[in-house]
Amino acid sequence: MADQDSIKKAKDFGFDHPMKKRSFHVKGMDDVDWGMKTRLSKIFDPVSSHTVMLAFDHGYIMGPTQGLERMDLAIPPLQDYADVLMATRGALRTCIRPDHNKAIALRCSAGSSVLKEDMSKEIIGVNIEDAIRMNATCMAIQAFIGSEHECQSIENIIRTVDAGNRYGIPTLGVVAVGKEMERTTKYFSLATRMLAEFGVQIVKVYYCDNFEEVTAACPVPIVIAGGKKVPEQKALEITYQALQKGAAGVDMGRNVFQADNPVAMIQSIRKVVHEKFTGTEAFEFYRDLSSR
Ligand code: 5RP
Repeated sequence: MADQDSIKKAKDFGFDHPMKKRSFHVKGMDDVDWGMKTRLSKIFDPVSSHTVMLAFDHGYIMGPTQGLERMDLAIPPLQDYADVLMATRGALRTCIRPDHNKAIALRCSAGSSVLKEDMSKEIIGVNIEDAIRMNATCMAIQAFIGSEHECQSIENIIRTVDAGNRYGIPTLGVVAVGKEMERTTKYFSLATRMLAEFGVQIVKVYYCDNFEEVTAACPVPIVIAGGKKVPEQKALEITYQALQKGAAGVDMGRNVFQADNPVAMIQSIRKVVHEKFTGTEAFEFYRDLSSR
């Protein structure tokens, strides 16, 4: 117990400085709990309000993808330039050192492999206790809106949002695309809005025409997926356009780790996301880094 004789009388109440009202830098998140806000602030930079997520969860459906044959070799050179590492618990536990000091988007849905025709039947593959044990900053669940198993994936989203809300862990709702799902503004507006209304705090979707309509109608931040590998200049231009049209960042995989120079690529993406570089400026930066 403190020595009572040395306790001084409180007198500095700062009467001239009323306590400041604050607004939170993440879209739609003013009214979530303090703990969830601290996690969202690890994901979205408080200065730029944006994020660079590095996705390397591909193995959970694809096995050893090009560029991710050895995650223990591929990811460490990139991770310093990411704000968030998106991966499965198996990849994190075996290949990533626990002192990485980054936010974690833990892949929590699991389902069929690419060998199956219909991959839309997913389950929740990580329970909330293990997500907490993994110190997940958010939990990623895929939604197959419009697919045969739409309702099951919606249930996965809702159960995860409920569990995350109990412990202050945000859910990242990932809009899946598949054979029967079109990549149109109409489809992405529908799917992103549905996920936000189910309560996810972050949505991941592909870039599309009139992307500003998708972001405007979605009351929570949207990050864009990269999709299959395209030339570096194009990937940087898409990133720039998405940011201009209201995206809060990227959650990219193949366009980083399959780039000719992955370390230069993720640094260039960072320039667009956090430092307002245009696609052209970022590509010049990429070329410059790559020529050294
Ligand atoms: C798939 C995912 C993956 O993480 C993501 O799509 C992979 O990133 P990329 O498409 O940029 O390689 O969420 O459900």
